[in-house]
Amino acid sequence: MKDQTIDTLPRTEPIQSATFSNSVNAEIRRAAHTGIYDIRGGGAKRRVPHFDDLLFLGASISRYPLEGYRETCETRVTLGTRYAKTPIELDIPVTIAGMSFGALSGPAKEALGRGASAAGTSTTTGDGGMTEEERGHSSKLVYQYLPSRYGMNPRDLRRADAIEIVVGQGAKPGGGGMLLGQKISDRVAGMRNLPTGIDQRSACRHPDWTGPDDLEIKILEIREITGWKVPIYVKIGGTRPYYDTTLAIKAGADVVVLDGMQGGTAATQDVFIEHVGLPTLACIRPAVQALQDQGLHREVQLVVSGGIRTGADVAKAIALGADAVAIGTAALVALGDNDPKWEAEYQKMGTTTGAYDDWHEGRDPAGITTQDPELMARFDPIEGGRRLKNYLKVLTLEAQTIARACGHNHLHNLEPEDLCALTMEAAAMARVPLAGTDWWPGKAGF
Ligand SMILES: Cc1cc2nc3c(=O)[nH]c(=O)nc-3n(C[C@H](O)[C@H](O)[C@H](O)COP(=O)(O)O)c2cc1C
Repeated sequence: MKDQTIDTLPRTEPIQSATFSNSVNAEIRRAAHTGIYDIRGGGAKRRVPHFDDLLFLGASISRYPLEGYRETCETRVTLGTRYAKTPIELDIPVTIAGMSFGALSGPAKEALGRGASAAGTSTTTGDGGMTEEERGHSSKLVYQYLPSRYGMNPRDLRRADAIEIVVGQGAKPGGGGMLLGQKISDRVAGMRNLPTGIDQRSACRHPDWTGPDDLEIKILEIREITGWKVPIYVKIGGTRPYYDTTLAIKAGADVVVLDGMQGGTAATQDVFIEHVGLPTLACIRPAVQALQDQGLHREVQLVVSGGIRTGADVAKAIALGADAVAIGTAALVALGDNDPKWEAEYQKMGTTTGAYDDWHEGRDPAGITTQDPELMARFDPIEGGRRLKNYLKVLTLEAQTIARACGHNHLHNLEPEDLCALTMEAAAMARVPLAGTDWWPGKAGF
């Protein structure tokens, strides 16, 4: 006979399901209640293999380090050496990624220009066009040519220092942008030739080309408009980096910008951010392989983005073969996004510092991802620019520290041999040895 007492014995601890976790259940309830999918900003929040899974080996007897205070470590990089008459010369290999005016406020755009220019690097426009704030304060401004063509005009094409044709973004490869009605002020609407206060969903593909051959024609067209002066970048989301990089090169790109799945966005469906695209770490080596197979590594430059936060991330991306990196989210944090000083306001919106990502709602207490005049007035673009400049300086100093410790007098001399991986996944993706071995999964000859 069954012992009845067994059923009444208390369990030591209630067990939560790993599959149906509290946050999964909360999302099911939210979906059941509202009938609409979750939209948010930012990049993938789940953990995927990343630069943290790599370590630098540093120098010792077999490699000789450089002296930090006596020996220099160069940081300069030139983008657009393939065809452009005036390539972009940057003092540091960290650029500011394209972020749309509409998603960001005018003062935030000004601060990005101020900070980047003071640090000797470039900024990039975004969906919605070129603002005077950003053009006026950016010594080097890259103008995005997007599928939406919001804010695109030949006059601004000619005012840019480089053109970036956006094919895709890491946060939402295959998808278009979103800017909800709350942020469509008269000014934003005017620049996009659309009505005020109406949700805008940007196109996910360019209306005037359907494949790489057309892209080649489009690039030529833009070169003609800009008199062959400025570099033409092609930005792709991380999906099939080997083939996409090969095709971008074939179409005539001067620079390939490659954005992995941790890359931020102003707004899209959460399911898109978390479930589409490749981790940044997995994108770099196939893209570098494509450049090498075409004999154009370093002649067509590679800019990598998606989750770059520290000088170590910068150095690791470069060691894997990138020429420069671009930052979006980290630049916004440097300006003051998700600052603990706004915690009381984040709590009122049902969130907390570090987790605030409803940028599409336009209620950002820091005044950065909003078009609300009162909130915008809280943000000081001069102070924001100063903070960004400082942050860019620290990224550069950190990357230099690592490069010197590996024995290199230029950041570009960092190489995969300087790295090892902490996990099998990272070893396979970055194609560097698992720590303590000379092997990685897929290495030929083993
Ligand atoms: C607020 C915001 C707005 C963005 N707007 C655009 C855009 O208009 N065009 C574009 O190509 N990418 C856009 N992006 C993506 C960035 O250019 C970049 O790919 C990404 O932020 C890099 O990843 P990170 O945020 O981890 O640095 C945006 C990103 C953010 C955070």
